Amino acid sequence: MTPRSPQQVASRLDFWQALSGAVLALFICVHLVLEGSVVLSPKITDWIGWIMEEVYLAQVAAPLILLIIVFHFWVAARKMPFRAGELRIYFQHSRELGDADTSLWLVQVVTATIILVGAFFHVYSVMVDMPLEVDKSAMRLHEGWVVFYVFFLPACILHTGIGVYRIGVKYGFISKARREFWRKTIWIVMGAYLLLGTCAITRVWFIGDALIQAVQ
Ligand code: HEM
Repeated sequence: MTPRSPQQVASRLDFWQALSGAVLALFICVHLVLEGSVVLSPKITDWIGWIMEEVYLAQVAAPLILLIIVFHFWVAARKMPFRAGELRIYFQHSRELGDADTSLWLVQVVTATIILVGAFFHVYSVMVDMPLEVDKSAMRLHEGWVVFYVFFLPACILHTGIGVYRIGVKYGFISKARREFWRKTIWIVMGAYLLLGTCAITRVWFIGDALIQAVQ
């Protein structure tokens, strides 16, 4: 068997990065919509949580998603500018090229770091406080987790939206002529997710307010 060339290895790793990224993007899109159901009614969200626990989906998804996050980060990390010299060169090239897509990549590096660390704390805090219930989420927000979501929610949405756009460009789903259209569309979808997530967190916060007042 002939050994693979460095280009073949790189394109295989790129493929795994895109595939794991697509799986995570799908997860986050579904997760935020399911969580967003609290805006309609906390009863619906509690029911979704109950089903997910009964069929062991939450228990299986939690470690699996964390593993995929670590794998995705590990594959992507080979291109990240960790050293000061690399970062300087990156900024220089990005300025010289004046290319928006190059700058978007830096946003990916920063948000990826927030997600990698944040996802562990988030999943741990939720899974050690089962069952999945809106009242429990509400108490967590009042214990200080609301500050965490102010950073975590936009980081997840930005990273997912930009990631989907970059996969589209790289694998030819988004042609050069349609880039502007897809950029706008993805910004609108990201805005909608941010609005939904913010409304969900606000609603859960007020549920917590009512619970605290009821026991006082
Ligand atoms: C599979 C295991 C997971 C479970 C069971 C879970 C469950 C929950 C729950 C119950 C909340 C409501 C807030 C709270 O209770 O603290 C929430 C919010 C959130 N989760 Fe997760 N989560 C999981 C994984 C993840 C992962 C891996 C990410 C991102 C990488 C993520 C991103 C978010 C975000 C951004 C919010 C805030 C937005 C909102 O409430 O709509 N979650 N999650």
